[in-house]
Amino acid sequence: MNALAATNRNFRQAARLLGLESKLEKSLLIPFREIKVECTIPKDDGTLASFVGFRVQHDNSRGPMKGGIRYHPEVDPDEVNALAQLMTWKTAVAAVPYGGAKGGIGCSPGELSRSELERLTRVFTQKIHDLIGIHTDVPAPDMGTNSQTMAWILDEYSKFHGHSPAVVTGKPIDLGGSLGRDAATGRGVMYATEALLAEHGKSISGSNFVIQGFGNVGSWAAQLIHEKGGKVIALGDVTGSIRNKDGLDIPALMKHRNEGGALKDFHDAEVMDSAELLVHECDVLIPCALGGVLNRENAPDVKAKFIIEAANHPTDPEADEILGKKGVVVLPDIYANSGGVIVSYFEWVQNIQGFMWDEEKVNMELHKYMNSAFHHIKAMCKSQDCNLRMGAFSLGVNRVARATLLRGWEA
Ligand SMILES: NC(=O)c1ccc[n+]([C@@H]2O[C@H](COP(=O)([O-])OP(=O)(O)OC[C@H]3O[C@@H](n4cnc5c(N)ncnc54)[C@H](O)[C@@H]3O)[C@@H](O)[C@H]2O)c1
Repeated sequence: MNALAATNRNFRQAARLLGLESKLEKSLLIPFREIKVECTIPKDDGTLASFVGFRVQHDNSRGPMKGGIRYHPEVDPDEVNALAQLMTWKTAVAAVPYGGAKGGIGCSPGELSRSELERLTRVFTQKIHDLIGIHTDVPAPDMGTNSQTMAWILDEYSKFHGHSPAVVTGKPIDLGGSLGRDAATGRGVMYATEALLAEHGKSISGSNFVIQGFGNVGSWAAQLIHEKGGKVIALGDVTGSIRNKDGLDIPALMKHRNEGGALKDFHDAEVMDSAELLVHECDVLIPCALGGVLNRENAPDVKAKFIIEAANHPTDPEADEILGKKGVVVLPDIYANSGGVIVSYFEWVQNIQGFMWDEEKVNMELHKYMNSAFHHIKAMCKSQDCNLRMGAFSLGVNRVARATLLRGWEA
């Protein structure tokens, strides 16, 4: 099942649980606006190249729409649609005053030079600048884009609308980015894990962890879990997987990775088969890489007691059902990886205030938002007698439905 079908299915189940009127259900599902633009740029060799850019704005009933921009060869309208919808429920679960959006350009960023990427980003911004804005739609980085991409968007947008740092988040600190944004998703994953384990009478320091992905989210999550006394006993990335039953030395592994070393060459670990990683014995499994990695083939063999969905959509619906029957507790992506969008919200607030917070304040506020969302999800699970995924979806959908009804949507 693709990401859009799975997201629609979760939404419909939540809508049914909440007893939403079918007209409202349909209205909530249809995106507010779908934008498709052609972006032609001169390449460095003088030839022209054309790319297709998308921006789907799903819902703005709770505030400006918010979501990343992805540069990837497989960006397609269906996926962008699903991710825009997920952002609507995610921002509502996190209780930040935003709606949902997502965008992307079908391109291979690794095959474009820095100046070609800059030209492409500027042309894309020229085509959509009237449709994004501080109080309309606020993009952020996603796969294949980064703080530099946001700096180019900010600069191009400001040519049309005047200096507007709050038009994008995930910016470099020198252009109004927030302290703590880089670590935010991984830190949010750690706070979410702490809250879930506490609910089950456990703690990070008494648990062992398997992590898939050692990029931005995975490496911050591993580092912060290690600092809290958790044992990361196996870890994998696209180059391979390693394990150490006594716990990997994460700071040493980070140093090794930052110096260009591959995981498999890390001195203090045993190389293992990557296919074994997700079914390795552990207390907590944290997928931090790709979508769809837990499926009907491997779900029956999963040995973790808890799964924290740091990646977007790592568990397909068939796996979800299998894991539920096995009693594995799955903390869903729309909550578990919301630390990034929460700190993006703080960045936007700081830009509007014209006042920079220190990192301690950012982390303390993030902790408050993550804890509060967790307790609201648990309350929804109790009142609707459902699992954490349905609790999170119902919480998000209910908040958006309430905002829509209060605004009056039928006139
Ligand atoms: N970065 C954020 O703020 C953020 C926020 C919310 C959700 N997410 C989600 O978290 C996930 C990771 O994002 P990121 O920003 O860390 O990306 P990243 O590009 O920094 O890291 C991705 C990691 O996944 C690994 N990987 C790729 N293919 C793999 C494979 N086949 N097997 C094992 N590992 C593989 C890579 O080696 C890398 O370590 C994505 O699903 C993303 O959508 C990220």
